[in-house]
Amino acid sequence: MNQSFNFKIVPEIIFGRGAVEKVGQEVRKRGGSKILLVSDGGVAKAGLLEKVRHLLLKEKLEVAVFDKVEPEPWVETADEAGKIARQEDCNLVIGIGGGSAMDVAKAASVLATNEGKASDYQGLDKVPEPGLPKIMIPTTAGTGSEVTFTAVLSNKKPKGKGGINSPYLFPQLAILDPLLTLSMPPPVTACTGMDALTHAIEAYTSLQASAISDALALKATELIARNLRLTVTDGQNVEARENMLMGSLLAGIALANAGVTAAHALAYPLGGLYRIGHGVANGLMLPYIMEFNLESSLKKFAKIADAMGEEVRNLPLEEAAKKSVAGANKLSREIKVPRRISELEVGITESNFPEMVTSAMKVTRPLENNPRKLTEEDAMAIYKRAL
Ligand SMILES: [Fe+2]
Repeated sequence: MNQSFNFKIVPEIIFGRGAVEKVGQEVRKRGGSKILLVSDGGVAKAGLLEKVRHLLLKEKLEVAVFDKVEPEPWVETADEAGKIARQEDCNLVIGIGGGSAMDVAKAASVLATNEGKASDYQGLDKVPEPGLPKIMIPTTAGTGSEVTFTAVLSNKKPKGKGGINSPYLFPQLAILDPLLTLSMPPPVTACTGMDALTHAIEAYTSLQASAISDALALKATELIARNLRLTVTDGQNVEARENMLMGSLLAGIALANAGVTAAHALAYPLGGLYRIGHGVANGLMLPYIMEFNLESSLKKFAKIADAMGEEVRNLPLEEAAKKSVAGANKLSREIKVPRRISELEVGITESNFPEMVTSAMKVTRPLENNPRKLTEEDAMAIYKRAL
């Protein structure tokens, strides 16, 4: 347990059914008059982008729209969004969508006020000046990007992904409205939910975990593990959607402070080299990493199992801890997310593993946070087991 830490959190969170209706007045409160609204095609198709645009127009605010964010967005997409913010003289940015849209919105807010390109700022603390004020409105219950200081963007050369990590990326406000998540189709609900579960479990078991992040991460594990199935099978169940959104929020705050661990590191090459979605990649790696990490903290994994609703009473500690892996496997099987690398259908074979291992081992911070030291040989063995 980390007994010496800085706990960082966004200044304001508005949560609740219909919370999005307040967006106009919240923009006004923050001095916004010309807004860049960043989103993606799926969110636009679901009518959510238009809903927010309408709410802003009703408040007599000017709105520029950038809705070309793709999954696993490129640095150039963030550059383009930043350029629009500058050209249109915007003074506030709103991101509405999943992690990709919110990450591009966060990057655009700093690109509007800083010279240079998104790729110049990938890394830690490279952004020199604060960005435009920003408000994030998630439409998935997954990434937690609305409460983190990171924007993950893809690069073509060298092929891979990198985060812009800066305190200037923290949104000023996160608006979480469960009603906005109702239209998410089951496969997206399933993958983004597994990402949220990965955040919760990894933040809880991270070497950077603190008493505060533990409380959040364990509650998040409980909410996600007990509501994800329902949101996949019955997308219109508002209470389950609400619990999932709360779970992903708590997991996001925990991860912004405790970090993530080896599942994110080993998932990284699947996204960076093969463009597998972040949630799919993490959901796939999570049970394998939990299995690997078990021995590092039987107590914590037993608590995870209990939070997930597994029966652990009267079990010896090791057996109780193992139930957490069984619980994660059962959940991913039931919500039908890929559980093996071969299921991804991108042609990965064992011959690709050396490149993947090299790439994963470069994801140093999550690996340093991992509760059990993970070597190149371990990474190779885990990929082989997951094939
Ligand atoms: Fe993640």
